[in-house]
Amino acid sequence: MSVTILGIESSCDDTSAAVIRDGLLLSNAIASQKVHEEYGGVVPELASRAHQQNIVPVVDSALKRAGIDKRDLDAIAFTRGPGLIGSLLVGTSFAKGMSLGLRIPIVEVNHLHGHVLSHFVRQKTEDEVPEFPYLCLLISGGNSQIILVKGYNDMEILGQTIDDAAGEAFDKCAKVMGLPYPGGPHIDRLAAEGDSGKFHFAKPRIPGLDYSFSGLKTSFLYTLRDAVKVDPDFVEKNKADLAASLQKAIIDILLDKLAKAADQTGAKTIAIGGGVSANSGVRKAVADFCASRGIKAFIPERAFTTDNAAMVAIVGYFKYLDRQFCPYDAVPYARVTIK
Ligand code: KG4
Repeated sequence: MSVTILGIESSCDDTSAAVIRDGLLLSNAIASQKVHEEYGGVVPELASRAHQQNIVPVVDSALKRAGIDKRDLDAIAFTRGPGLIGSLLVGTSFAKGMSLGLRIPIVEVNHLHGHVLSHFVRQKTEDEVPEFPYLCLLISGGNSQIILVKGYNDMEILGQTIDDAAGEAFDKCAKVMGLPYPGGPHIDRLAAEGDSGKFHFAKPRIPGLDYSFSGLKTSFLYTLRDAVKVDPDFVEKNKADLAASLQKAIIDILLDKLAKAADQTGAKTIAIGGGVSANSGVRKAVADFCASRGIKAFIPERAFTTDNAAMVAIVGYFKYLDRQFCPYDAVPYARVTIK
């Protein structure tokens, strides 16, 4: 018997709804919020209000694009956390209300779990998915983790950042350069035209498989501060080279520990996920590394690197098969890791 899941994602500033039937994506609707641009970052209260405006049309559009009626749904999966509480409340409350109306169960989803399992969202029946166990490099604005994925619901964190996440390193350094928020995509674009060997920044010496990006950030800040004293136009004149050198430094740090993890686990498959996995340099570096080691690489389509409900629906699908339903008194949580 086929299983149809509606996924709802509202953890930050994207309202998204997706329909998955037996692991196959039928629709993925997203409404992004432009209201935050003028503030240089997401304003939680505005995000929450925009979710309230968007949620009904986005869910309606997901059902229509999937060509199904709401009565065809078997369960509703929603992001319970981590994220902004006011934003999460909208998706959580909507999922509860709709499920009560339809008399179908709800399934709670950890947003990070969604990023890890996003590779199981098939758009065509013949799409390949990773084989367990595999390594996942989860890199976003709030997380940098190397995860050993042993099953749909069985994961072990092998390493994680002890301070800033990779996305924060991109965003904070971009801010120092005067680039808009979020800076990651701007660094990516500028880096394509720059010389990555022009500047060198401090590399962390952290044992094991953990990451640290705060030293790089400080080193970047001091390099710019000292150079600007000598030439006030330094950043403007060197922005492409600065972006390329910064991007290379972040990639070197990411790949160094990923290579160690691959050696330690004998991984045959590596997947990447999270907002920073949209970065062109990261995608190429991981693909090249895997090719050089005979490791199968799963690099997500860019649409699945950002927040989307398809990844929520796929986790919901696997949890549904396990009958892991959620009680109605479940409240959102702001912080949590993958476990
Ligand atoms: O996973 P995500 O969408 O959200 C949260 O962490 O909540 O990740 C957002 C992060 C931001 O730091 C953003 O700058 C970064 O992903 N990012 C990128 C790129 N696209 C998004 N960083 C580098 N290059 C990109 N192309």
